[in-house]
Amino acid sequence: MTNSADTVAVSTLASRAASVIRDGFEVYESEFNRISRRARSRFEQRDWKGAHQDALARLDLRARILARVVEWVRQLLGNSVSDRDLWSMMKVEFSALIAQRTDWQSGETFFNSVTRRIFATVGVDPGIEFVASNYAGSPRAAGQRVYRTYKSQASSAALVEAILRDFSFSTPWCHLASDVKLAGELIDRHLATSGGDAPIDAVDMAWPVFYRGKGAYLVGRMWRGGAITPFILALLNPPEGIELDAVLLEPGDASNVFSFTRSYFHVETKQPLGMIEFLKSILPQKRISEIYTVLGRHKHGKTELYRELLQYLDDSRECFGPARGDKGLVMVVFTLPSLDVVFKVIRDEFAPPKNTTQAEVKKKYALVFRQDRAGRLVDAQEFEHLAFDRSRFAPELLEELLSTCAQNVSANAGQVHIRHLYAERRVVPLNLFVREMSEGAARAAIIDYGQCLRDLAATNTFPGDLLLKNFGVTRAGRIIFYDYDELCLLTDCNFRDMPQARSDEEEISGEPWFYVGEHDIFPEEFLPFLGLSELLKDAFLGAHAELLKPAFWQRAQEVHRAGEIVHIFPYRPEKRLRYRP
Ligand SMILES: Nc1ncnc2c1ncn2[C@@H]1O[C@H](COP(=O)(O)OP(=O)(O)O)[C@@H](O)[C@H]1O
Ligand SMILES: [Mg+2]
Repeated sequence: MTNSADTVAVSTLASRAASVIRDGFEVYESEFNRISRRARSRFEQRDWKGAHQDALARLDLRARILARVVEWVRQLLGNSVSDRDLWSMMKVEFSALIAQRTDWQSGETFFNSVTRRIFATVGVDPGIEFVASNYAGSPRAAGQRVYRTYKSQASSAALVEAILRDFSFSTPWCHLASDVKLAGELIDRHLATSGGDAPIDAVDMAWPVFYRGKGAYLVGRMWRGGAITPFILALLNPPEGIELDAVLLEPGDASNVFSFTRSYFHVETKQPLGMIEFLKSILPQKRISEIYTVLGRHKHGKTELYRELLQYLDDSRECFGPARGDKGLVMVVFTLPSLDVVFKVIRDEFAPPKNTTQAEVKKKYALVFRQDRAGRLVDAQEFEHLAFDRSRFAPELLEELLSTCAQNVSANAGQVHIRHLYAERRVVPLNLFVREMSEGAARAAIIDYGQCLRDLAATNTFPGDLLLKNFGVTRAGRIIFYDYDELCLLTDCNFRDMPQARSDEEEISGEPWFYVGEHDIFPEEFLPFLGLSELLKDAFLGAHAELLKPAFWQRAQEVHRAGEIVHIFPYRPEKRLRYRP
């Protein structure tokens, strides 16, 4: 009697708690969508500051709502809050509550976030968390049509015009006729140089517009001779009106636009699964986790990354081993041979000259999360309480983790437990790249390294440690930065000229004989500090000599202090329709 009454009480409690989590999830989703939807009017009204604030608000949204939901659940469950059986029932109830939603995947991740905040589970507990990937071939993805199809027209220009006219904005086009003409010519040139004279069969354009920074992107794919290639129209809205700025047709263009080094898009995704499938068709090399992340669904991206990792470990016998390159003073970095991800664990102690703390390092990663990543900063996912088989670690790596990261890593006979790590895309460290690649490739890399510093300066970021080993080269050959512990806002730095020595003793003194403040930076010292070969030094000077003068950095600071928002183009200047060399 008592038993069955108890059972009823427990199941009611489970269903009420599941509803509380579902309600929280609904609030999160609707807020997320409301902010994402607002990107359109921000773009139309050229409200770049508003767009920037929205980007931050959306990044902060999840943690804010989760904190509230966890509090409600704790209150509701009282002493039963860590009762696993109750949570198993809640999981079943929750699953039923979200089953009919198109965003149920994101719902599962939301539930997991609540569970993990309450349990601090080591590894994953399938009884109370959603683990298995429901993505692959999901029947629920079928029928989520997120695009419309344009049949081939009399000319490429006519096709572009038909598309542009369908995406109407409240702001008028600035010079639609000439946009259409230039785009048509560009597409024809592209067709002639790739795949001979096969005509375009059709173009599918995603319904929702993708917004980021000052740009709007109409994202599509072109069908030609049975093959799919990207078809992306990049729009800007200068004071004169909306214009088509670039037509991006190469696979490399698409991966640049959707790069893991850029801030997340604002895009209305009522059918997330359908949208993911659509994007995957034009970004075949990109892992699903990264596609979720570029849509702003970084927490679900994290769930997917974890699934990819488990799948990979299941399918292969490869082991974690140290990442190539110079060892870090702050991080122990390891990787798997055929998965392009590195894992970074913070050391217990840092050798001089580093005098930071674990908490400070984490703050820097959190700063980057909210910063415009400008196509130059790797997106890092933070994981807690991971567990792996001990046999999957190369012995010398495990030895290093246990001896120098004891606060974050422990092991028993069977398992390794990692309390905290960052996971991010693996790239080729730039110091290795310039050593191992041809002269021409190394020169190009050093020139893009300078451009990387400029792009970061344009978005108010100073990397702090400029050594080549802290930069990497992506598949597309772009230079990006990954070592965040000394990164800071440009406006917090003090760029100075080197004072003139007043005497010979001062001149030859190894130590600075003048006062150096904590935030003082001497651009004149950059080049000697980098230790480049003569050839690479010349390449750098040819393109970026002004970076060695404080004036360059001070001007960039003024731009930020005036509150100006600089747009970083996710394509090269030559790709712009009206490019003049
Ligand atoms: N994303 C990455 N891809 C490839 N190698 C990396 C990556 N991040 C770090 N590494 C390697 O690990 C080393 C240490 O990482 P880093 O982030 O620079 O930490 P630290 O602050 O300890 O120097 C780097 O010098 C590089 O060789
Ligand atoms: Mg480093």
